[in-house]
Amino acid sequence: MSVTTPSHAQAARQTPTDKLFEPIELGPYHLPHRIVMAPLTRSRARQPGNIPWPLNACYYMQRASAALIIAEATQVSQQGQGYAWTPGIHSREQVEGWRLVTDAVHNAGGLIFLQLWHVGRISHPSLQPDGMLPVAPSPIKPAGDAFIENEMGEGEMVPFVTPRALQVEEMPYLVQQYVRGAKNALTAGFDGIEVHAANGYLLDQFIQSSTNRREDRYGGPIENRARLLLEVAEAVSQIWGSDRAGVRLSSLDTQNDISDDDPEATFGYIADKLSDYELAYLHVVNPALKAMEQQNKPSPLALRMIDMFREKYRGNLMFAGGFDQDTAEAWLKQGKADLIAFGRKFLANPDLPERFRRRARLNADDQSTYYGGGANGYTDYLSLAQEQGKEPKPCVDDRWR
Ligand SMILES: Cc1cc2nc3c(=O)[nH]c(=O)nc-3n(C[C@H](O)[C@H](O)[C@H](O)COP(=O)(O)O)c2cc1C
Repeated sequence: MSVTTPSHAQAARQTPTDKLFEPIELGPYHLPHRIVMAPLTRSRARQPGNIPWPLNACYYMQRASAALIIAEATQVSQQGQGYAWTPGIHSREQVEGWRLVTDAVHNAGGLIFLQLWHVGRISHPSLQPDGMLPVAPSPIKPAGDAFIENEMGEGEMVPFVTPRALQVEEMPYLVQQYVRGAKNALTAGFDGIEVHAANGYLLDQFIQSSTNRREDRYGGPIENRARLLLEVAEAVSQIWGSDRAGVRLSSLDTQNDISDDDPEATFGYIADKLSDYELAYLHVVNPALKAMEQQNKPSPLALRMIDMFREKYRGNLMFAGGFDQDTAEAWLKQGKADLIAFGRKFLANPDLPERFRRRARLNADDQSTYYGGGANGYTDYLSLAQEQGKEPKPCVDDRWR
């Protein structure tokens, strides 16, 4: 099945020369261009219950001209939650809430995958079922603070705790949390799912050596450290078909206090293994993100990692992190990537592809409104059309009244 939506078809007609605007096949989907919206946690789910609601539907609908929206990291279980007010995909109400979002995006001609998330140790007992300890491969406390809701209902940073190491007997049940999330995402009307194995969360904690000191079949050599990710990728592929599933990895990023003794070997193994699954795509956080942001030369290791992913992964490769239109175009032209995901630029520019197409000025993102709050800094970034005086598209659905 190849799906071309009206706004996608229109977009494809407009800028034929740039590589960013060349169409690409992604699993069963025909994307009219290569500008993806990266997953962005915004901590604006309805409370109580971490339920997506019309405000979220409006935000995603505004961004439906992305070739693909990868919706924000979404916990597959309460155990998988690590921050206040992030949405889940484990309750009936959450599935119904996500249905508002997927319908809104589809009505606007967009395509939307859900990022399935378990944070592992990047949590706090106050977010866990019955105030229990967060779980992790090994009982190693991360440096830093968790973002929780305090007794007054406000966001607060509190120090991380030492997590409880998962028992080997629990591992199949952990995979089942992702399975339930994947099934629920199907019911909620998503077009696919992305397994979040990046940024120091649970699957990454198993992969990278600094957070995994296990001596069983989930620890030690990379074949063991990659086991949980591969089991999850296999299980969710059975639900969705592997061509509607993606995986996100980050390799040199130290976010959430994580690192690996030999990232080239670790991620080379995983990229190679994941090729066999024939996924919709592999999504990699740019190893040269920091350097590119600071307009510095990337380290030799970062450059080797970028090439390594291309060599080892035989399928659609997406990079995210630190790109502007020109660097994205250059990476596509040089064959380093097939798709580029934009985070902060999409956050602040709901019509990013149109702005790129016209080489228009971009809105700047406001960091103070990244997490929590309401429409301010969320659905009130203007499109070019609005800047020119046009009324915004109404964000209304009969079920919302
Ligand atoms: C506010 C904010 C929230 C984010 N939330 C997520 C998330 O939920 N899942 C994820 O994998 N990455 C998340 N990221 C990382 C982005 O997907 C992206 O990799 C990062 O912003 C770098 O890309 P950029 O330079 O285009 O912004 C987040 C980044 C920001 C700024």
